[in-house]
Amino acid sequence: MGAVINNRAIFGAMCAAFAVYSAAVYTSGTETPHLEPIGDQARAGQMVFQQYNCIACHQFYGLGGYMGPDLTNVISNRGPALARAFIASGTATMPNFHLHETEIDALIAYLSFVDSTGRYPPENYKVTWYGTVAQDDDPQ
Ligand code: HEC
Repeated sequence: MGAVINNRAIFGAMCAAFAVYSAAVYTSGTETPHLEPIGDQARAGQMVFQQYNCIACHQFYGLGGYMGPDLTNVISNRGPALARAFIASGTATMPNFHLHETEIDALIAYLSFVDSTGRYPPENYKVTWYGTVAQDDDPQ
């Protein structure tokens, strides 16, 4: 009789531990970071980015084509002036799309928005005691 109670107690304790651990694993690190909503100009820039298929050669967060560099943090790493110059004039390997000034402004606003969403590659990350990896992503 005593053994039965012990087995139930152990089973119950393991179920409780499993529930607590599952809740932690499935919720920790899933909070949405506080982001400014995308503005109208950045939204327009996203349309230009899609229209000219910039992602065919570039990446955000490592995803995209591989002919040109990753653009996730191009604004904070290299500055809006450099990004603007590449977009406005092209280079030997980057096409000049002959974009209108308002399209370039919109693209810079979009790239700034993307930049504000995080860092790529992740620079500061920590491994928690329960085994998940969290990016300590205070941008910049
Ligand atoms: C055919 C491929 C291709 C397409 C399409 C393309 N790019 Fe590029 N881009 C490149 C290459 C290659 C470079 C690097 C050029 C160099 O260093 O001479 C580059 C460089 C850049 C840079 C400078 C990044 C850095 O860190 O030096 C920016 C900003 C940029 N491109 C934005 C854009 C935008 C915005 C579009 C869409 C309107 C676009 N690119 C479309 C190939 C492309």
